Amino acid sequence: MTRETWATRVGFILAAVGSAVGLGNIWQFPFKTATNGGSAFVFVYLLAAVLIGLPAILAEFVIGRRAKRNAIEAFGRLNRPAWTIVGALGLFTGMWILSYYSVVGGWVIRYVFGSATGAYFGDPGTYFETVSMGLEAVGLHGVFMLLTAGIVAFGIEDGIERATKLMVPSIVAILLALAVYAATLPGATDAYAYYLNPDFEYLFANLGDVVPFAVSQAFFSLSLGMGAMITYSSYIGGDESLPTDGGTIVVLNTLVGLLAGFVVLPLLFAQQGGISETAAGGGPGALFVAVASAFADLGMAGRAAGVVFFLVVLVAALSSAISLLEVVTSYVVDKYGVDRRVTAFGFGAALFALGTLSAGDTAWLGWFDTVAYKFLLPVSVLLGVFFAGWVLGPVAVEELRKGTGGLPQVGPAWLWALRTFVLLAVVATLLLGVNTLYEMPAIPAF
Ligand code: PHE
Repeated sequence: MTRETWATRVGFILAAVGSAVGLGNIWQFPFKTATNGGSAFVFVYLLAAVLIGLPAILAEFVIGRRAKRNAIEAFGRLNRPAWTIVGALGLFTGMWILSYYSVVGGWVIRYVFGSATGAYFGDPGTYFETVSMGLEAVGLHGVFMLLTAGIVAFGIEDGIERATKLMVPSIVAILLALAVYAATLPGATDAYAYYLNPDFEYLFANLGDVVPFAVSQAFFSLSLGMGAMITYSSYIGGDESLPTDGGTIVVLNTLVGLLAGFVVLPLLFAQQGGISETAAGGGPGALFVAVASAFADLGMAGRAAGVVFFLVVLVAALSSAISLLEVVTSYVVDKYGVDRRVTAFGFGAALFALGTLSAGDTAWLGWFDTVAYKFLLPVSVLLGVFFAGWVLGPVAVEELRKGTGGLPQVGPAWLWALRTFVLLAVVATLLLGVNTLYEMPAIPAF
């Protein structure tokens, strides 16, 4: 059986952007910006995305396209079978994350309806507590996982490519419209000032927090360290310029994050109590409560804006979740030749089961998320970067060079970056994360 490929180059780019653009951009990025010094965080994030994220995503692309195989077997295909363990760690990390990512996806579905009926308008805080835990959360988590598996079951070209071709442009268009609407809110001017005027004083006073936060945010947002980008690039049919594709993906992903900030920050500034009250809430639900309060303050207009906002978050989350489920699906299909539909729904069911922990109690969700952010993700990215830089080395440069034609050759500079500061930045992020592991939420009791 011949292995599937993307029908078009644009199809690959949009699928990768769909993977990258997700809850990380629309949910976490604006909120982390709001609670980490605004522009200071944005500034560091931009640097991290370009200087560290771009070389790292190219590393995954090179591995995937060279091997043309799923994220686990790719390492064997590249004649480094011992490194298969890195692929396995990536796959494990991806499944770990998908288990609770889908729970948040379920909350988002709830909020689409809640906005339409105004259900949370009376008391957004209590509303969140009731919908984020228990049976209803479990059920909607199941719905989200079903949608995810349903798309993956259709395959690369007919499922993922077709879906993301529709989803990504809609996300951008709707966010643009919402940003225009948000500009009319009373808090907009203050929000922009907080968002855009670089506050270096804050940055230097909080460097140790802001930098690792921004770097790991960039990894998560670019879907690194989870086998997703290795898997997607393994379906590239021809030898297109990877630096061009990677650059496009990083730029689009960053722009969508920034755009989401133009929607969320004015909302946060518009609501009564402002940003400090929002920050005080903390936890995984803070943004839901904060944004919901803002919509509640807006009355009827808030209902409409709420439906549209949560719909766009839902689409973004779905287009990311499919890339996580595709990692394991592609492995099982490649290696064991099991039917794609059976695999997608089977693993969807297993991850649904794991996710019921997070759906039952947000303390579990917080624990899963912290382990992923501080540990699994940086270790996995670190090993991938090390592999491409130091183990593949010249082979990686050769692969990167394919299809770049008359473009200036960036290979040697890229390799140097991977081997030095990109690697250092990942190590530093990991150490800083591990260093604060004691702050980790305890494993919740049953
Ligand atoms: N990048 C996605 C986001 O920003 C999350 C994700 C991570 C998706 C890893 C796939 C793989 O929400």
